[in-house]
Amino acid sequence: MTRKYLIAGNWKLNAGGPNGVELAGAVAQATREVAPNVELVVAPPFTALAAVAHELEEKRVEVAGQNLYPKDSGAFTGEISAPMLLEAGCRWVILGHSERRQLFGETDALVHDKVAAAMRAGLCPIACIGETLEEREANRTLEVVFRQLDAFSAELNKRPGYGVIAYEPVWAIGTGKVATPEQAQEVHAAIRKRLNDLNPTLAQGTRILYGGSVKADNASVLLACPDIDGALVGGASLDAEGFAKIAKAAPR
Ligand code: 13P
Repeated sequence: MTRKYLIAGNWKLNAGGPNGVELAGAVAQATREVAPNVELVVAPPFTALAAVAHELEEKRVEVAGQNLYPKDSGAFTGEISAPMLLEAGCRWVILGHSERRQLFGETDALVHDKVAAAMRAGLCPIACIGETLEEREANRTLEVVFRQLDAFSAELNKRPGYGVIAYEPVWAIGTGKVATPEQAQEVHAAIRKRLNDLNPTLAQGTRILYGGSVKADNASVLLACPDIDGALVGGASLDAEGFAKIAKAAPR
Protein backbone atom coordinates (compact mmCIF):
# COMPACT_ATOMS: atom_id res chain seq x y z
CA MET A 1 0.00 0.00 0.00
CA THR A 2 1.44 3.41 -0.87
CA ARG A 3 0.96 6.11 1.70
CA LYS A 4 0.75 9.72 0.59
CA TYR A 5 2.97 12.12 2.49
CA LEU A 6 1.25 14.49 4.89
CA ILE A 7 2.80 17.82 5.83
CA ALA A 8 0.86 19.55 8.60
CA GLY A 9 1.53 22.98 10.07
CA ASN A 10 0.67 23.41 13.73
CA TRP A 11 0.37 27.15 14.25
CA LYS A 12 -0.10 26.70 18.03
CA LEU A 13 -1.03 30.02 19.74
CA ASN A 14 -0.11 32.16 16.72
CA ALA A 15 -1.73 33.71 13.68
CA GLY A 16 -5.30 34.01 14.94
CA GLY A 17 -7.60 36.42 13.13
CA PRO A 18 -6.55 38.37 10.03
CA ASN A 19 -2.91 37.22 10.31
CA GLY A 20 -4.10 33.65 10.02
CA VAL A 21 -6.14 34.33 6.90
CA GLU A 22 -3.16 36.08 5.34
CA LEU A 23 -0.83 33.20 6.26
CA ALA A 24 -3.30 30.62 4.90
CA GLY A 25 -3.51 32.50 1.61
CA ALA A 26 0.28 32.65 1.41
CA VAL A 27 0.57 28.91 2.17
CA ALA A 28 -1.95 28.07 -0.58
CA GLN A 29 0.03 30.19 -3.00
CA ALA A 30 3.48 28.86 -1.99
CA THR A 31 2.43 25.19 -2.12
CA ARG A 32 0.83 25.19 -5.57
CA GLU A 33 3.78 23.28 -7.08
CA VAL A 34 4.02 20.67 -4.31
CA ALA A 35 3.88 17.14 -5.79
CA PRO A 36 0.49 15.39 -5.87
CA ASN A 37 1.73 12.63 -3.52
CA VAL A 38 1.77 15.16 -0.66
CA GLU A 39 -1.28 16.23 1.34
CA LEU A 40 -1.18 19.58 3.10
CA VAL A 41 -2.86 20.68 6.32
CA VAL A 42 -2.71 23.80 8.50
CA ALA A 43 -3.94 23.99 12.10
CA PRO A 44 -4.79 27.57 13.13
CA PRO A 45 -6.15 28.64 16.54
CA PHE A 46 -9.91 28.05 16.97
CA THR A 47 -10.86 31.70 16.41
CA ALA A 48 -9.32 31.70 12.92
CA LEU A 49 -10.64 28.29 11.78
CA ALA A 50 -13.76 29.35 9.89
CA ALA A 51 -12.06 32.29 8.17
CA VAL A 52 -9.03 30.18 7.23
CA ALA A 53 -11.29 27.38 5.92
CA HIS A 54 -13.12 29.98 3.83
CA GLU A 55 -9.81 31.34 2.50
CA LEU A 56 -8.74 27.79 1.55
CA GLU A 57 -11.95 26.79 -0.25
CA GLU A 58 -11.09 25.21 -3.62
CA LYS A 59 -7.42 25.01 -2.52
CA ARG A 60 -5.49 21.82 -1.80
CA VAL A 61 -4.55 22.88 1.74
CA GLU A 62 -6.94 21.47 4.36
CA VAL A 63 -7.71 22.67 7.86
CA ALA A 64 -7.19 21.06 11.28
CA GLY A 65 -8.22 21.95 14.81
CA GLN A 66 -5.48 21.79 17.46
CA ASN A 67 -7.64 20.05 20.05
CA LEU A 68 -11.21 19.02 20.80
CA TYR A 69 -13.36 17.93 23.72
CA PRO A 70 -14.75 14.39 23.50
CA LYS A 71 -18.39 15.32 24.20
CA ASP A 72 -20.46 16.65 21.31
CA SER A 73 -22.30 19.33 23.32
CA GLY A 74 -23.35 20.26 26.85
CA ALA A 75 -22.15 22.15 29.91
CA PHE A 76 -18.41 22.18 29.17
CA THR A 77 -17.44 25.84 29.34
CA GLY A 78 -14.55 26.79 27.12
CA GLU A 79 -14.46 23.58 25.10
CA ILE A 80 -14.95 22.83 21.37
CA SER A 81 -16.44 19.57 20.04
CA ALA A 82 -15.67 17.45 16.98
CA PRO A 83 -18.96 18.41 15.24
CA MET A 84 -18.11 22.09 15.85
CA LEU A 85 -14.71 21.64 14.19
CA LEU A 86 -16.41 20.00 11.21
CA GLU A 87 -18.87 22.88 10.99
CA ALA A 88 -15.98 25.36 11.04
CA GLY A 89 -14.52 23.63 7.97
CA CYS A 90 -12.00 21.22 9.52
CA ARG A 91 -11.33 17.76 8.19
CA TRP A 92 -8.50 17.07 10.66
CA VAL A 93 -7.63 17.50 14.32
CA ILE A 94 -4.33 17.35 16.22
CA LEU A 95 -4.76 15.43 19.48
CA GLY A 96 -2.60 14.64 22.50
CA HIS A 97 0.13 17.12 21.61
CA SER A 98 2.90 17.10 24.22
CA GLU A 99 2.05 20.70 25.12
CA ARG A 100 -1.49 19.56 25.94
CA ARG A 101 -0.13 16.61 27.93
CA GLN A 102 2.51 18.62 29.80
CA LEU A 103 0.83 22.01 30.32
CA PHE A 104 -2.82 21.00 30.51
CA GLY A 105 -2.57 17.61 32.18
CA GLU A 106 -3.95 15.47 29.35
CA THR A 107 -3.79 11.78 30.20
CA ASP A 108 -3.60 8.78 27.88
CA ALA A 109 -7.23 8.03 28.76
CA LEU A 110 -8.37 11.50 27.73
CA VAL A 111 -6.38 11.30 24.51
CA HIS A 112 -8.13 7.97 23.81
CA ASP A 113 -11.53 9.61 24.28
CA LYS A 114 -10.55 12.48 21.99
CA VAL A 115 -9.32 10.14 19.25
CA ALA A 116 -12.56 8.14 19.56
CA ALA A 117 -14.66 11.33 19.33
CA ALA A 118 -12.79 12.50 16.25
CA MET A 119 -13.17 9.15 14.48
CA ARG A 120 -16.89 9.02 15.38
CA ALA A 121 -17.46 12.46 13.92
CA GLY A 122 -15.51 11.80 10.72
CA LEU A 123 -12.62 14.06 11.64
CA CYS A 124 -9.20 12.62 10.89
CA PRO A 125 -7.09 12.51 14.08
CA ILE A 126 -3.38 13.34 14.09
CA ALA A 127 -2.56 11.70 17.42
CA CYS A 128 0.74 12.77 18.98
CA ILE A 129 3.13 10.67 21.04
CA GLY A 130 6.70 11.18 22.17
CA GLU A 131 9.15 10.90 25.06
CA THR A 132 10.81 13.62 27.15
CA LEU A 133 14.58 14.02 27.32
CA GLU A 134 14.60 12.45 30.78
CA GLU A 135 12.70 9.42 29.48
CA ARG A 136 15.06 9.04 26.50
CA GLU A 137 18.12 9.29 28.73
CA ALA A 138 16.66 6.62 31.00
CA ASN A 139 16.23 4.35 27.92
CA ARG A 140 12.47 4.48 28.31
CA THR A 141 11.62 5.90 24.85
CA LEU A 142 9.79 2.88 23.47
CA GLU A 143 8.09 2.07 26.76
CA VAL A 144 6.60 5.60 26.86
CA VAL A 145 5.77 5.79 23.16
CA PHE A 146 4.07 2.35 23.20
CA ARG A 147 2.06 3.25 26.32
CA GLN A 148 0.78 6.43 24.63
CA LEU A 149 0.12 4.56 21.36
CA ASP A 150 -1.62 1.59 22.96
CA ALA A 151 -4.09 3.98 24.57
CA PHE A 152 -5.70 4.80 21.20
CA SER A 153 -4.47 2.29 18.60
CA ALA A 154 -7.63 0.16 18.87
CA GLU A 155 -9.61 3.26 17.86
CA LEU A 156 -7.39 3.77 14.80
CA ASN A 157 -7.90 0.09 13.97
CA LYS A 158 -11.64 0.66 13.57
CA ARG A 159 -10.80 2.37 10.27
CA PRO A 160 -7.28 1.31 9.28
CA GLY A 161 -5.34 3.96 7.39
CA TYR A 162 -7.64 6.85 8.32
CA GLY A 163 -6.02 8.17 11.50
CA VAL A 164 -2.49 9.55 11.55
CA ILE A 165 0.20 9.28 14.25
CA ALA A 166 2.76 12.01 14.92
CA TYR A 167 5.95 11.02 16.73
CA GLU A 168 7.23 14.17 18.37
CA PRO A 169 10.11 13.70 20.82
CA VAL A 170 9.45 16.40 23.42
CA TRP A 171 13.15 17.32 23.57
CA ALA A 172 13.07 18.24 19.87
CA ILE A 173 10.03 20.54 19.99
CA GLY A 174 10.83 24.23 19.65
CA THR A 175 14.42 23.59 20.68
CA GLY A 176 16.13 23.52 17.29
CA LYS A 177 17.38 20.07 18.36
CA VAL A 178 16.05 17.81 15.64
CA ALA A 179 16.20 14.04 16.03
CA THR A 180 18.71 12.49 13.64
CA PRO A 181 17.10 10.56 10.78
CA GLU A 182 18.42 7.37 12.42
CA GLN A 183 16.86 8.22 15.79
CA ALA A 184 13.54 9.11 14.18
CA GLN A 185 13.46 6.12 11.81
CA GLU A 186 14.20 3.73 14.69
CA VAL A 187 11.17 4.92 16.67
CA HIS A 188 8.94 5.14 13.59
CA ALA A 189 9.80 1.55 12.64
CA ALA A 190 9.09 0.41 16.20
CA ILE A 191 5.70 2.19 16.12
CA ARG A 192 4.85 0.53 12.81
CA LYS A 193 5.86 -2.87 14.17
CA ARG A 194 3.62 -2.29 17.19
CA LEU A 195 0.71 -1.48 14.85
CA ASN A 196 1.57 -4.56 12.81
CA ASP A 197 1.12 -6.74 15.89
CA LEU A 198 -2.43 -5.38 16.09
CA ASN A 199 -3.25 -5.50 12.38
CA PRO A 200 -0.86 -5.57 9.39
CA THR A 201 -3.31 -3.50 7.31
CA LEU A 202 -3.30 -0.83 10.01
CA ALA A 203 0.50 -0.80 10.04
CA GLN A 204 0.80 -0.50 6.28
CA GLY A 205 -1.88 2.17 5.93
CA THR A 206 -1.13 4.46 8.87
CA ARG A 207 0.93 7.56 8.24
CA ILE A 208 3.49 8.25 10.94
CA LEU A 209 4.65 11.87 10.91
CA TYR A 210 7.80 13.18 12.56
CA GLY A 211 7.64 16.45 14.50
CA GLY A 212 10.24 18.50 16.37
CA SER A 213 12.28 21.32 14.82
CA VAL A 214 11.53 20.28 11.23
CA LYS A 215 12.83 23.01 8.90
CA ALA A 216 13.41 23.40 5.18
CA ASP A 217 17.05 22.38 5.60
CA ASN A 218 16.52 19.12 7.52
CA ALA A 219 13.22 17.93 5.98
CA SER A 220 14.60 15.94 3.06
CA VAL A 221 16.79 13.58 5.11
CA LEU A 222 13.93 12.92 7.52
CA LEU A 223 11.31 12.41 4.80
CA ALA A 224 13.63 10.01 2.95
CA CYS A 225 13.37 7.51 5.85
CA PRO A 226 11.16 4.53 4.96
CA ASP A 227 8.82 4.85 7.97
CA ILE A 228 8.52 8.65 8.03
CA ASP A 229 5.39 9.60 6.11
CA GLY A 230 5.37 13.32 6.68
CA ALA A 231 5.97 16.06 9.20
CA LEU A 232 4.11 17.95 11.87
CA VAL A 233 5.73 21.35 11.71
CA GLY A 234 5.52 24.02 14.42
CA GLY A 235 7.63 27.18 14.16
CA ALA A 236 8.58 26.74 10.49
CA SER A 237 4.90 26.48 9.48
CA LEU A 238 4.42 30.18 10.30
CA ASP A 239 6.49 31.03 7.22
CA ALA A 240 4.62 30.09 4.04
CA GLU A 241 7.74 29.74 1.91
CA GLY A 242 9.56 27.64 4.52
CA PHE A 243 6.51 25.40 4.93
CA ALA A 244 6.30 24.94 1.16
CA LYS A 245 9.98 24.01 1.01
CA ILE A 246 9.40 21.30 3.62
CA ALA A 247 6.50 19.93 1.55
CA LYS A 248 8.65 19.99 -1.59
CA ALA A 249 11.33 17.95 0.23
CA ALA A 250 9.09 14.86 0.23
CA PRO A 251 10.37 12.17 -2.14
CA ARG A 252 8.22 11.73 -5.26
P1 13P B 1 8.58 22.93 16.25
O1 13P B 1 8.57 22.58 14.77
O2 13P B 1 8.45 24.41 16.48
O3 13P B 1 9.71 22.30 16.96
O4 13P B 1 7.23 22.29 16.86
C1 13P B 1 6.93 20.98 16.60
C2 13P B 1 5.54 20.72 17.06
O5 13P B 1 5.27 20.71 18.24
C3 13P B 1 4.50 20.48 16.05
O6 13P B 1 3.34 20.03 16.61
